Amino acid sequence: MARILITSAIPYINGIKHLGNLIGSQLPADLFARYNRARGNEVLFLCATDEHGTPAELAAAKAGKPVAEYCAEMWAVQNDIAQGFRLSFDHFGRSSSPQNHRLTQHFAGRLAEAGLIEEVSEKQVYSIADGRFLPDRYIEGTCPNCGYDKARGDQCENCTKQLDPTDLINPRSAISGSTDLEVRDTKHLYLRQSALRDDLRAWIDSKTDWPILTTSIARKWLDDGDGLQDRGITRDLDWGIPVKKGDQPWPGMEGKVFYVWFDAPIEYIACAAEWVDAGNGPGSEQGWERWWRRDKGADDVRYVQFMGKDNVPFHTLSFPATILGSGEPWKLVDYIKSFNYLNYDGGQFSTSQGRGVFMDQALSILPADYWRWWLLSHAPETSDSEFTWEAFQQDVNKDLADVLGNFVSRITKFCRAKFGEAVPGAGAYGPQETALIADLQARLDRYQAHMEAIEIRKAAAELRAIWVAGNEYLQSAGPWTVFKDDPDRAAAITRFALNLIPFYAALSAPFIPDAAATMAGAMGADLSWPTSAQDGVAGIAPRPWL
Ligand code: MF3
Ligand code: ZN
Repeated sequence: MARILITSAIPYINGIKHLGNLIGSQLPADLFARYNRARGNEVLFLCATDEHGTPAELAAAKAGKPVAEYCAEMWAVQNDIAQGFRLSFDHFGRSSSPQNHRLTQHFAGRLAEAGLIEEVSEKQVYSIADGRFLPDRYIEGTCPNCGYDKARGDQCENCTKQLDPTDLINPRSAISGSTDLEVRDTKHLYLRQSALRDDLRAWIDSKTDWPILTTSIARKWLDDGDGLQDRGITRDLDWGIPVKKGDQPWPGMEGKVFYVWFDAPIEYIACAAEWVDAGNGPGSEQGWERWWRRDKGADDVRYVQFMGKDNVPFHTLSFPATILGSGEPWKLVDYIKSFNYLNYDGGQFSTSQGRGVFMDQALSILPADYWRWWLLSHAPETSDSEFTWEAFQQDVNKDLADVLGNFVSRITKFCRAKFGEAVPGAGAYGPQETALIADLQARLDRYQAHMEAIEIRKAAAELRAIWVAGNEYLQSAGPWTVFKDDPDRAAAITRFALNLIPFYAALSAPFIPDAAATMAGAMGADLSWPTSAQDGVAGIAPRPWL
């Protein structure tokens, strides 16, 4: 039994996420978690809300609520929606948790002791119209790297370059649009990432099995030396984790907080502690440290992260810099699965413009399984993909209704009409069944291989082919015609086809957990993973095979 730690990029607290966010991290992570649990592996699947920074402050102000209250409410909203989509987190935490405060301050203290923190007196953009310092994301302008004219002060969405606001050409306030900006002095902490460049490069170079999308983005920033500029890790804001050196005050940094991108990934670790503190696991420090500390057993853990491509630099460079720089034996990620973007009907999904389908709307329109199936089977793995309502309707009808649903309904109706409620025991299996078993075995092997490799579209295609094989079998064996001359043979075909239902249910459960549970339940079967195709179709009575 393997031990697998799975994290999904933690969604910002401000507002409900759209389907593009869902397929970019949480949903594929859930697929992988469910698959690994079904295979008998020990899984810890963590996600949380990303609560700090200006977006949270501004959203709370807009809602007319204190920011802590706003975050608590939005956490509950996001948690409900996650459950609606059947996202099977072992814990859905909060980056504002006391556990994360402690760990973030701990890491900052360690980095300072290692000589990796520099205090820098710097100039920061102050908006006279808005009466405040403008955080990076709230300054917009033209990207010096690619010329995109809506680049944000922390990163260009178009070319993924991490930026400083003062890099922007023609900067303006994203809050008011005002260009009446001035630069004022303030003191901040910088993480000397550049000192870790060689370590990071060696580490990335050792990851020969990572998706090209992940390593190409990481290399790009390592190779032009740009992504590893020393990075400011503090901000002039009220809401956030107060700057401290471990549990000691940090002279000169009073009233400042850590930058949201410094504390957010540390929440991956804190979330495991929250999970234990909520009464899970063995209930001791050891309970979460065995997932995270290499000196406490985490060397046996395989750690897999899921995220959209815009998150890759933070996970391949910044967070590993925090971990490596601490000099402590924390676990580094073993595999990063990253995604391109899902577009919406010819353009981008956009939270700020309310463009696209949002998670709460989606659930109010159709059951989670419909969305899960479509999104996963169209996961933007090798390139961006596109959601259109027509494609969604067509694919869901074709795959779930015409193939899987049709198979289940045809054979159960036929059985009920001719043989009643019990699975018929008469008749022998023959060459058609033997051939189908062989075909299903080959497909099962491929399906498992794709799931292990997190090749989501390929896995979905193989699963669909497994459903199709059952339909084709039913079509060519034709129990409804055979029944007239040879009712026993028709009974055998019916029995075989009915036995495919729990087999399909088990294999489909990671993609469509509700439908799978209904299918298995209807057959009095559970969702245990088949050890082979033959074993899989021998799941329900009468059991004797061939
Ligand atoms: N909230 C970020 C986003 O949605 C992701 C943070 S992931 C973590 O893009 F690494 F910071 F945790
Ligand atoms: Zn750019």
